[in-house]
Amino acid sequence: MAEQRKSIHGQWTNRTVFILAATGSAVGLGNIWKFPYIAGENGGGTFVLVYLLCIALIGLPIMMAEIMLGRRGKQSPINTMAALAKDEQRNPGWVWLGWMGVLAGFLILSYYSVIAGWAMSYVFRTGGGLFLGVTADGVNSIFTDLVTDPERLMAWHTLFMVMTMIVVARGVKHGIERAVTYLMPLLFALLIIIVIYSVTTGHFMEGVRFLFTPGKIDGKAILIAMGHAFFTLSLGMGAIMVYGSYLSNKHSIAQASILIALADTVVALLAGLAIFPIVFANGLEPGAGPGLIFQTLPIAFGHMQGGTLVGVVFFTLLVFAAWTSAISLIEPAVAYLVENKGVNRIYASVWIGFLTWFVGLGTVFSFNIWKEKTLTIPFLFEDLTFFDVLDYLTANIMLPLGGLFIALFAAWVMKEKSTREELATYPWLYKIWNFLTSFVTPLAVIVVFLKAIGVI
Ligand code: PHE
Repeated sequence: MAEQRKSIHGQWTNRTVFILAATGSAVGLGNIWKFPYIAGENGGGTFVLVYLLCIALIGLPIMMAEIMLGRRGKQSPINTMAALAKDEQRNPGWVWLGWMGVLAGFLILSYYSVIAGWAMSYVFRTGGGLFLGVTADGVNSIFTDLVTDPERLMAWHTLFMVMTMIVVARGVKHGIERAVTYLMPLLFALLIIIVIYSVTTGHFMEGVRFLFTPGKIDGKAILIAMGHAFFTLSLGMGAIMVYGSYLSNKHSIAQASILIALADTVVALLAGLAIFPIVFANGLEPGAGPGLIFQTLPIAFGHMQGGTLVGVVFFTLLVFAAWTSAISLIEPAVAYLVENKGVNRIYASVWIGFLTWFVGLGTVFSFNIWKEKTLTIPFLFEDLTFFDVLDYLTANIMLPLGGLFIALFAAWVMKEKSTREELATYPWLYKIWNFLTSFVTPLAVIVVFLKAIGVI
């Protein structure tokens, strides 16, 4: 049973490596690219507050549940769900939760890779001195030039997918460890440098006010804030579960989860503090959408001392942050193929990588030749492009739904004896976790869903 299981894919060297890898998965484009632009589109203040509440009350308990399921099952999320349902003598149908996660990861990576490609191309744009002394209009047209050129986007997307496949083919452990140990702290430091620049713009407090002053919010924005809590913590699709399956049994899951969530949140808030003062100082639009960081940060790099170097290093680190997230997005699928089809990691990574790349072309075209092709689904969304639809379906529906069922499985389907074995290092913490996952977390997710479609 659970106690004797061993992962066939290996184990993290120690707890720190697990925390680093999970933080590598959590910290990515979600924090630096997505958080600022959706906070901007949804009016700041209240949106940020709802997001923070969701991290604490929904994200953290689900992260603990996901790591726990992974560590007990010791396999890809699909096989883990099957094995745990069997251990607990429950309905084998729970395996669908693993499948939905694999699908979500695959869809997310398809567009994630395209955006990571933008970041890669910005390493070179910054390095070439393109932004020296640039104006807001200048950065805008440089960004538009890039995204309206499908060939260039495709080339960068291809390169990023190949990079991801290489790491995944080698096994997640090699490569990840070093990348996160050195690069994450550096990313942190650089964000602080940009925040310091933002203080000098004279509009810092305006940025702070935008991010932290509550205002009005509607059901749709609440759903987006909650969806983002899942997205940014890599929850609800098995990424954290599969990383948990490589974790040895002796470590405290609660402590690790708190550290991961904290690091992730601090990076997002720093990104917000770096970006919004620049937005206001230059009369830009906070709701500019997915291009926001590409239309603001270059202004900072173009005007600060040593900005070219800071900019090159910053975008390089952003690519690394995206890379360590991307590998966790396909690891569940690759682990499954290796377990069930008897193929090796290289074969599995190449196939899944190729399929992901292909679906990613839809996102490439969303910013140019398919820009006008949009979809409306009544009650849910209006006029979204292919990219927007994928983003909406995965972050706002699939991940919260996956997370909801993970919480329900951990709290109601597994026996208390099993969850205690995994989580009761601190009995009082276990009690809080049990209460949250049994009632608060599932109810919160359901209420947000109902509110978003206007039922309540
Ligand atoms: N958490 C990552 C980010 O914020 C994205 C991600 C989502 C990674 C889901 C894995 C699983 O960029």
